[in-house]
Amino acid sequence: MLCASHAVAQSEPSALIDQQHCMFCHTNDAPLLAPSFQQIASRYRDDPQAQAMLEHKLRAGGRAHWGDMAMPMPAERGGALSPEDAHVLVEWVLRH
Ligand code: HEC
Repeated sequence: MLCASHAVAQSEPSALIDQQHCMFCHTNDAPLLAPSFQQIASRYRDDPQAQAMLEHKLRAGGRAHWGDMAMPMPAERGGALSPEDAHVLVEWVLRH
């Protein structure tokens, strides 16, 4: 796992992550207000539909897929997100 987390850190789209406040609710490995990025990655890693579905969800917000979380993912998080940026972010999440 050391190698994998190192790779994630090296290619982190940090400006986007800051601008969108991802780490306000998520962490890499500990579920808090939201599922951790490791949980999300292991849930969707083998799902070929997941990339597109998650890009849409990041841009539009949406329905709760994680029943034990108090809220759905909000759409407004510090600025509009372009399709390109959503793509980069979802690729990054799924690399965890
Ligand atoms: C205000 C809190 C908050 C912020 C900010 C936030 N998230 Fe989330 N996110 C959540 C919650 C809550 C869930 C679980 C929603 C659910 O049950 O589907 C979630 C779920 C997700 C999922 C899984 C979606 C699914 O349908 O399973 C991904 C991927 C994700 N977030 C990525 C991000 C990224 C990337 C950012 C920054 C661009 C971000 N989140 C910012 C609260 C947040």
